[in-house]
Amino acid sequence: MQRIRKAVVPAAGLGTRFLPATKAIAKEMLPIVNKPSIQLIIEEAAASGIEEVIIVTGRGKTEIVDHFDAHPQLELALARAGKEALLREVLRPTQLVKISTVRQQRPLGLGHAIACAAHLVGREPFVVFLPDDLVDSTRPCARQLMDVYEQTGRSVVALMNVSRSEVSSYGIAAGEFSAKDPRLLKISHLVEKPPAEEAPSTLAVVGRYVLEPEVFDYLLRTTPGRGDEIQLTDALAAMASKTGLYGYLFEGDRFDAGDMTGFLLANLNWARKSPQMWRAVEQFVALHRTNQDS
Ligand code: UTP
Repeated sequence: MQRIRKAVVPAAGLGTRFLPATKAIAKEMLPIVNKPSIQLIIEEAAASGIEEVIIVTGRGKTEIVDHFDAHPQLELALARAGKEALLREVLRPTQLVKISTVRQQRPLGLGHAIACAAHLVGREPFVVFLPDDLVDSTRPCARQLMDVYEQTGRSVVALMNVSRSEVSSYGIAAGEFSAKDPRLLKISHLVEKPPAEEAPSTLAVVGRYVLEPEVFDYLLRTTPGRGDEIQLTDALAAMASKTGLYGYLFEGDRFDAGDMTGFLLANLNWARKSPQMWRAVEQFVALHRTNQDS
């Protein structure tokens, strides 16, 4: 079995849910406390053992590339001022993994964005990280899936249980759970954003996937689906019925940073890691709760 070394991060979407903030700023650069959300993704990739990340970008996304590049002028200024801690923070994004980029010329869908990276991935298994999906966990979410891939030798997607009213926002999987591992599902059926009454389960696919290179062959054959876009879910549904596909109920808290409420909650979650910041949040909430009650 080939070792997983590479990951693809599709970041060429238009980010319409965040307009007007994303008119001139890439959605992936909006900060979670003091780091652009895409840095948390690349940190998870590095912590999972990924060595090379291919970011799929589009028009107006150049600042993502700048963020992971060196900034000699800033580095020199911080070094001269003796701001060692800040200098380490500025250098960190350049030291995590090797970054390559490829442009998706038109936003034709997530499946199409991933296919744009095919020549850089080559014929080896790889991980896909959707940058909107931030996961806070003890063991990195991608690492959990990579371990499953090492056991099964098959593609595996991250799964999360959602309420029935939410199924229409996700790809939904159905299948049979393993007798040995209650978190492992052999997927028989996958459907993109079904209406609640048609959903085969409440098991939602979230933004981490370990994929075998055959997925590129399936993507080539995938015609535009929901929203007239080339959907990754459609290619995975075909893979599930032919070569096999697993789902894994990962351990950790997931935040949808592509949605305004999810973004706010993600900021609160990461702010919680700083006792000083969290005290300020608690004081703010206490004050406003009192004001509302009175
Ligand atoms: P979304 O459906 O969340 O689209 O894409 P979006 O444009 O980012 O955001 P909204 O819904 O308009 O607010 C899921 C992921 O796939 C990428 C996005 O960048 C995001 O990471 N994507 C989507 C592409 O790279 N290319 C596409 O053509 C579509």
